[in-house]
Amino acid sequence: MRDSTNLGAQIAFRVAYHGFDTTTYDISDEALKGARGRFEAIAENYAKDLPGVSKEDARKAFDHLTQTSDLVEAVKDADLIIEAVPEILALKQETYGKIKDHLKPEAIIVSNSSTLLPSDMAEYTGRPEKFMSYHFANAIHVMNIVETMPHPGTSAETRAAVIEFAPQMGMVPVILEKEQPGYIINSLLVPWLVNGAQLWVKGVATIESIDGIAAVITQSNNASFAPFRMFDFVGFGVAQALFSQSPDPIAQEFARRLKEDFIDKGKLGVETREGFYHYDEQGNATGLTAAAKATYPDFEG
Ligand SMILES: NC(=O)c1ccc[n+]([C@@H]2O[C@H](COP(=O)([O-])OP(=O)(O)OC[C@H]3O[C@@H](n4cnc5c(N)ncnc54)[C@H](O)[C@@H]3O)[C@@H](O)[C@H]2O)c1
Repeated sequence: MRDSTNLGAQIAFRVAYHGFDTTTYDISDEALKGARGRFEAIAENYAKDLPGVSKEDARKAFDHLTQTSDLVEAVKDADLIIEAVPEILALKQETYGKIKDHLKPEAIIVSNSSTLLPSDMAEYTGRPEKFMSYHFANAIHVMNIVETMPHPGTSAETRAAVIEFAPQMGMVPVILEKEQPGYIINSLLVPWLVNGAQLWVKGVATIESIDGIAAVITQSNNASFAPFRMFDFVGFGVAQALFSQSPDPIAQEFARRLKEDFIDKGKLGVETREGFYHYDEQGNATGLTAAAKATYPDFEG
């Protein structure tokens, strides 16, 4: 699968592919240019991964996609605003603050946050009853589920509307009855990733051994459950944000390694074809990178 990590681009493409006029916002014209490249990669992924879908079929999404770096322009006529800015609580709160006075009264806002609770963001939207979480899983065209999670102040109408919209864009809604950090997906996955990272940071085993064992015990031949393959797939921006917010010194050390030895050098995982592994043009792992094999002084957490 070729790169399409950025969730905002994937979601926008998905909605547009199903015929809904979609405006995407990003912070700069340069970021929008990057998004355009991602849309092309996503169209290729649709043709490659979805039976019966040609590249021309997938490209029909472009008829419904508009890009802008003007935030107010992006949201002012929207019925549904799907927020997918980086996983930083203050940034999400600030983004809602910027849009809240420019929306149609009936507009609903959802967050694609992977780990944050909607109740920590709801008041910043100025319309807490019209706000909840809508968590897509990476590679949304093949993992076509969306976790729908209300906070205690979400209205029943909002919840119903958001759940009903999912099948209209080809997604299966997963209903969470109450708030849970990490929802279902990351409640299951994050401890697995954290434990894998800890084994490496503590110097217990190499990445090769950790990922190798994960592939055996999950019987996943393509190593898709290997923690470090998963970090590459999720993208280091999200992983670094997640680990750096933990008070645990081992998590902090992992976040530091991600930042200094990978992110600062432009290595972000599958997206840049280099993270813990090298990837070919098709997104197949071709071997561990030198940075993944680096040794560190014993870490005393
Ligand atoms: N990566 C995953 O596997 C995954 C899966 C599900 C949900 N999510 C969630 O989706 C959200 C985005 O994650 P991602 O992996 O797409 O991250 P990303 O870093 O790939 O994309 C973030 C986007 O936000 C833009 N951005 C940066 N600063 C901004 C700002 N100040 N205001 C507005 N936009 C800004 C960036 O230009 C980029 O387009 C996060 O909440 C994350 O938890 C990620």
